[in-house]
Amino acid sequence: MTLRNRLVMSPMETMYGTPDGLPSERTRDYFAARAKGGVGLITVGATGIDHHHPETPGGLHLGTDAAIDAHRALVDVVHEHGAKIQPQIVHAGPDGLGPEMHGVTSIGPSVIPSYLTGRPSTEVTHEQLIEVFDLFKAAVRRAAEAGHTAAARALGSLYLTGAGVAEDAEEATRWLRVSGDAGDPASRVDLANLLPQGSVLAKATMRPGCACWISARYRFDSRMAMSASSRVERRR
Ligand SMILES: Cc1cc2nc3c(=O)[nH]c(=O)nc-3n(C[C@H](O)[C@H](O)[C@H](O)COP(=O)(O)O)c2cc1C
Repeated sequence: MTLRNRLVMSPMETMYGTPDGLPSERTRDYFAARAKGGVGLITVGATGIDHHHPETPGGLHLGTDAAIDAHRALVDVVHEHGAKIQPQIVHAGPDGLGPEMHGVTSIGPSVIPSYLTGRPSTEVTHEQLIEVFDLFKAAVRRAAEAGHTAAARALGSLYLTGAGVAEDAEEATRWLRVSGDAGDPASRVDLANLLPQGSVLAKATMRPGCACWISARYRFDSRMAMSASSRVERRR
């Protein structure tokens, strides 16, 4: 992700979310003010993968599809002021307020007392761990659908390499296009690799001065890409 400067806001939970854990008008105003103030990258504080395990009352989450539109509104207002934004996607683990707020049991790598309440979690089972992985994947997808460039990049890379998901060139292309269009150079290189003759195009990007060349061309269909790659071959 290319930033306008090196001012990066570390994740800080604001507790400005709605009671349902969605970004509120106050959340948007708060982050828009930081974007307007010149921050390069905002990291939204602890954003849960499971709305049953909030870290704080009103703590944000990406655990339901209802979160997508609310997060998109937040992303849009930050982008309007020229900053980038990414969510810190988490599971609250032993420290979640799920038992108090939703009557569920907190899970942890072992029996660990919550630092907030002192109440012990249970040790996560293998099945629960698989569920947590799936919740992380779903949350990253929702973040990408909400317009978070880094999430789109991460999702595209996962589909490209088959890490934790079934390898899927179509899905990889879909998400890398989103992050590529948002100006992420690494996504553009990956997209080039997905095109026929992509290896030739990708090699071109390794040469000084060629990154712009590839970024301007990565949208071309495969026919154009092939003719572009033969131009590269001819220049050798
Ligand atoms: C009000 C508040 C909320 C925070 N929320 C989070 C959070 O959601 N996630 C996180 O990883 N760190 C959180 N932190 C920690 C900060 O991101 C940061 O690491 C910490 O303030 C130390 O900053 P420093 O390394 O510049 O001293 C929070 C800190 C504060 C003061």
